[in-house]
Amino acid sequence: MGIVDEDVKRVRDQTDIVQLITQHTQLKKNGRQWMGLCPFHGEKSPSFSVNHEKGLYYCFGCQTSGDVIDFVRQMEHLDFAGSVEYLASRANIPLRYTDKNETQKRGRRKELLESVQKAVDFYHDRLLRHPDGRAARDYLRERGYDSEVARQFSLGWAPEGWDNLAKHLNISADDMQDAGLGGLSKRGTKYDFFRERIVFPIFDERGDAVGFGGRKLPDGEGPKYKNTSDAAKVYSKSRVLYGLNWAKTEAGKLDEIIVCEGYTDVIGFHLAGIERAVATCGTAMTPDHARKLKLFASRVVLAYDADGAGQAAAERVYAWEEEFGLQFAVADLPEGSDPGDMARNDPEGLRRAVEHAKPFLAFRIDRELARGDLSTVEGRARAGEAAVGLVAEHPNALVRDQYLVSIADQCGLDAGQLRRRMENKPVAKTPLADSPVVSTTRQVTTERQALRLLMHRPSEVAAFLSPVLFADPTMRLAYEALAEYEDLHEARAALEGEAADVLSQVAVDDATDDDPLGVVCRLLALAAVQAAVMLEGEVRRGADMASLLPDITYLRRQAIELREVPNDMADLAPALQWFGIGVTGE
Ligand code: UTP
Ligand code: MN
Repeated sequence: MGIVDEDVKRVRDQTDIVQLITQHTQLKKNGRQWMGLCPFHGEKSPSFSVNHEKGLYYCFGCQTSGDVIDFVRQMEHLDFAGSVEYLASRANIPLRYTDKNETQKRGRRKELLESVQKAVDFYHDRLLRHPDGRAARDYLRERGYDSEVARQFSLGWAPEGWDNLAKHLNISADDMQDAGLGGLSKRGTKYDFFRERIVFPIFDERGDAVGFGGRKLPDGEGPKYKNTSDAAKVYSKSRVLYGLNWAKTEAGKLDEIIVCEGYTDVIGFHLAGIERAVATCGTAMTPDHARKLKLFASRVVLAYDADGAGQAAAERVYAWEEEFGLQFAVADLPEGSDPGDMARNDPEGLRRAVEHAKPFLAFRIDRELARGDLSTVEGRARAGEAAVGLVAEHPNALVRDQYLVSIADQCGLDAGQLRRRMENKPVAKTPLADSPVVSTTRQVTTERQALRLLMHRPSEVAAFLSPVLFADPTMRLAYEALAEYEDLHEARAALEGEAADVLSQVAVDDATDDDPLGVVCRLLALAAVQAAVMLEGEVRRGADMASLLPDITYLRRQAIELREVPNDMADLAPALQWFGIGVTGE
């Protein structure tokens, strides 16, 4: 669903960032920046900073950053296109879509959503008021759902009979089908998809009804639940999360979201006073679900019944933690009970289980050890080894080692021996943040000064900078994008994650007091040391010493000489040239 670039740019340019943000937090002018309390995290003194002219914000407290579109994404929990649409409608800017049929498609979607909403109303009315809703009302009441609950979640009753809804809506069979509400029978008559079922309407995160889960009554026929088919045009089970529309506010506030299995679990959580619960609808969690969760919170608590949680594939959980920046934890629910049951029998226990949710790996280890017999030597060895097998699946060595030590402790085993056992296990597939931190703080500081000079006073430094002077990978990426794109927003768009953040951060920095000569000089000195170390390494590994020695000596000497900042940029020319940075031509 692409929006034409030009229109995105228009929306960005025509949105006043200060005006937009002041709807959420008060900003005060402070020098060239606007400062205020961060709207994304609780704080008492302002660390949220906005650069009006460049259209960027950065929070020194929580490191959140971006432009007007990012702000709306974060504040309203919308995706990119949704955020642009939000700003466009605010500024009365018509949008064009890259796909020419998009406008038409959007009209169609709106039409289908209206039919789904009419179905919600129809079913709801049947449940609350109609004589044939009686059995359903009784069943729900017996489960502890009074009419207030039915209203809160727009529950409904799809009555007996082939085509009650079809007659009520009076739309074409195609429309019934595309809306996921029914279809055309072989005899050429329209039929309803949900019949004799209690329906749980499923809303998307904006609150539009997109589908239903339909539960049979205890003596009903067919599977316990029937969900809207994926053939429907407005519904996709691999993306939709039941309850997200109700969960998103609390999830955003607490940066935590709960994932459970079913409709009645989500409702149970609400009845127990917890609003941040969602459920996948008749499917295991998909990468699209994980990606969507991350839009709302970074901590995910799995609240499946005890076996279900263990079954969540570890490999995927770790891959998603890495790929989406999520952390998975598990609420330890008593064997055989789901949140829906617990909300009735032991709401306090349910709240406690969520509050004490354990990191995914810790949960699995604890379960493994609890299963074992720790009273005998053999039992402890077996349990310890099994637990170490779980640890081996985790991709981060630092994390692995801490769990390993704790297992050794609990099983009275030698950590060194366990470590050797683990090393013989197949190695985790995802290489993670094990790599050593290469850059020193001093270096990063200097590199950042260089970036902000390049951003705010480009004519003074652009000619003296080059990627080779940036040792920190993130800083180098940020530099390269900034050097390549004239437009700051394009540069940010070309980057991801941290590197993009660096640019926003630097945009709200003040470079007035930076000394271009000093900064280039320090960058050069650091680069000289790095290059010397690298060449020395080559010599150690057998490269020809005689041919490398002149360079090594030169670099080492430069590193010392450059400790003192010269009087003129021209004095740096030889060293710059060594790094292939030509400064003669002007
Ligand atoms: P459960 O069988 O645990 O049902 O299925 P539940 O949510 O606890 O419902 P109650 O409390 O027994 O009424 C969990 C989820 O799995 C999907 C549904 O989304 C359900 O909410 N499911 C289950 C199906 O899609 N089809 C089925 O036949 C059963
Ligand atoms: Mn269940």
